[in-house]
Amino acid sequence: MAAVANGIIQTKLNAFVGFSNLPNQHHRRSVKKGFHFTIMVVGESGLGKSTLINTLFNTTLYPEKKVPITTDLNKSLDIQEISAEIEESGVKLRLNVIDTPGFGDFINNEDSWKPILRSVEARYDAYLEQEQSQHRAKITDNRIHACLYFIAPTGHSLRQLDIEFMRRLAPRVNLIPVIAKSDTLTDEEVAAFKQRILDDIIFNKIEIYRPPVYEDDDEDTVAETNEITSKIPFAVVGSNKDVTTSDGRTVRGRAYPWGIIEVDNEDHNDFVKLRQMLIRTHMEELKRFTSEVLYETYRTQRLEASGRTQEAIPKEINPAASLEEQRIVHEQKLAKMENDMKLVFQQKVQEKEAKLKQSEEELYARHKEMREALEKQRAELEDKKRKLESLVHSASLMKPATPEKTRKKGIFK
Ligand code: GTP
Repeated sequence: MAAVANGIIQTKLNAFVGFSNLPNQHHRRSVKKGFHFTIMVVGESGLGKSTLINTLFNTTLYPEKKVPITTDLNKSLDIQEISAEIEESGVKLRLNVIDTPGFGDFINNEDSWKPILRSVEARYDAYLEQEQSQHRAKITDNRIHACLYFIAPTGHSLRQLDIEFMRRLAPRVNLIPVIAKSDTLTDEEVAAFKQRILDDIIFNKIEIYRPPVYEDDDEDTVAETNEITSKIPFAVVGSNKDVTTSDGRTVRGRAYPWGIIEVDNEDHNDFVKLRQMLIRTHMEELKRFTSEVLYETYRTQRLEASGRTQEAIPKEINPAASLEEQRIVHEQKLAKMENDMKLVFQQKVQEKEAKLKQSEEELYARHKEMREALEKQRAELEDKKRKLESLVHSASLMKPATPEKTRKKGIFK
């Protein structure tokens, strides 16, 4: 029997129809087409960016550098792209790595963030242009899905260069801060450094990427996500070299006279959690956030700046994006209302304060007036008292008349 709920007929099938296979179809198509991911690495030269990318994808995307690359201190920053197709268990991943050699290496690093932001936005512009063109079916997506920002392991706090870059780029990319070469710090130093970095991030209102927790996530997923979040900023160690531990295991790591740092050991560093987030659990989420939130915000701002409304662009390409856009517009409206309310409140408070001040002044004036009147009265009374006293005094100096004389004169009867 068919039931009706919210005007929609709910019915059971009598036999297998086949649409339950839709997720598999989708999955098969995605696997056949392959996946793609674009990651950007930013940080001063020699902080281990190329080593970490090689370690993350377990491949030699970057050849090992035998001699450190010297930077021309007066040159400007470069943006380079490396693409590779990697395959694991029949699943292909086209990986684009955007490198930014020269960042922070010059005499004047004030504007180091500018060419990087330009590159991020140029990729959004290219996407927007394709969206608006006739051939929308074949869009090439070069947008950056994650930006790893390498923080030098100074153990102090963020430098102006770090703050400026993160502040400028965070609204446009999924910014993931990592502490480079964390094996150069002790565990206590890493913990204290992480705390100071987080304090700086909060103080400067920098919106770094944090994996979201959804209402329908099961307990395990929530715990996993919280565990990843607790490691931010990830203190990482990179190495694609095999080393042998004292108990005879062969691991990827760095050998020191005092022992071995294992890359894939969670007790030694946060590399495993970073890889888990980037590749195993949140790659699609990073792409979704880039497309539905970061790009959509940029798109809205671009269209508004060029005087076009959202309606001018068809949305059938990405209904989720349309919803997200509505959410953003709604939030902007709410923020505006909140702001207006704050202004009205402030205005009311100011008016009340002005009134209070005025009555206070009036009260003070009346008080002054009354005090002056009282003073005047007191002075007059004092004056009268003085006069009376002098009268009494002069009377007492006069000789008193004898009672007989007085009686004769008929004063006394
Ligand atoms: P540029 O290409 O010049 O920008 O440098 P980069 O940031 O790509 O650094 P790269 O990966 O070339 O590493 C520079 C040096 O640091 C190399 O000698 C690496 O072996 C070493 N290195 C890389 N990762 C680590 C790490 O986690 N810990 C330590 N101690 N050294 C590392």
